[in-house]
Amino acid sequence: MVIEIKEASIKRDEKFILKNINWSVQAGQHWAIFGLNGSGKTSLLKMINGYIFPSEGEVNVLGKKFGTYDFRELRKSIGWVSSSLQESLYVNETVEEIVISGKFASIGLYENPVANDYEKAKNILDKFACSNLKNRFYYSLSQGEKQKVLLARALMAAPKLLILDEPCTGLDIFAKESFLMLVDNIAKAEDSPTIIYVSHHIEEILPLFSNTLLLKNGSVHSSGKNENVLTNDNLINFFDRTIEVSQKNNRFLIHTQL
Ligand SMILES: Nc1ncnc2c1ncn2[C@@H]1O[C@H](COP(=O)(O)OP(=O)(O)OP(=O)(O)O)[C@@H](O)[C@H]1O
Ligand SMILES: [Mg+2]
Repeated sequence: MVIEIKEASIKRDEKFILKNINWSVQAGQHWAIFGLNGSGKTSLLKMINGYIFPSEGEVNVLGKKFGTYDFRELRKSIGWVSSSLQESLYVNETVEEIVISGKFASIGLYENPVANDYEKAKNILDKFACSNLKNRFYYSLSQGEKQKVLLARALMAAPKLLILDEPCTGLDIFAKESFLMLVDNIAKAEDSPTIIYVSHHIEEILPLFSNTLLLKNGSVHSSGKNENVLTNDNLINFFDRTIEVSQKNNRFLIHTQL
């Protein structure tokens, strides 16, 4: 089991941000998490990463139980890409430094890299066709380039769990597809991490994500195989609106009616 959450809740200011969450992710599965703004997606990810603690319930990640283990250590096995991470990185570090800092799960490069780290960072950047950016300052990159660099950074520690929180925000349609293809290649690699992909755009759910968790107002609306969860009836119930779901090239699309 990669993630096992039982009856977990988080309360802030007398309000439940997450309520009674039950969710299991098994090795070999990749999951999409889908929900509207404010439904609790990022909070759920922060809880998995040990940044916020459940007020009730149990959280196990990569076989480690919350409260009994140093999550700073565990975070080295979890790759994390999000636009909020972009904001906290040091903008005047070079791309190479940012990628290498992923090995230490740190913001900023405090520990001394060894020759092998430079080699590894180079290999990942080569694979992403980004080696030309190696010496550029992070602030000077475009949004699409930044997201690729963050993905490269997340892979630096060869994580067992890779969490992508709305990684395609701000990307044009081609940059988005190019980013999604990198994710697809990561999933196809032999030693692929378990990937959790959060979005509020259903068309970003690649076929590799065979399971989806729908979050609504801090609770699990439904979860499981896409063919059961991403159906017209279930999504109409989820949105409480008239919508129509279609599929093309194994990708889902939602058509809204106002
Ligand atoms: N520290 C906090 N104190 C009070 N409320 C919080 C706190 N953190 C999150 N919330 C609230 O919890 C709800 C869920 O927030 P969260 O960021 O998890 O949503 P989200 O699904 O990631 O949304 P988005 O799609 O906009 O990123 C929001 O209403 C948010 O305002
Ligand atoms: Mg969010």
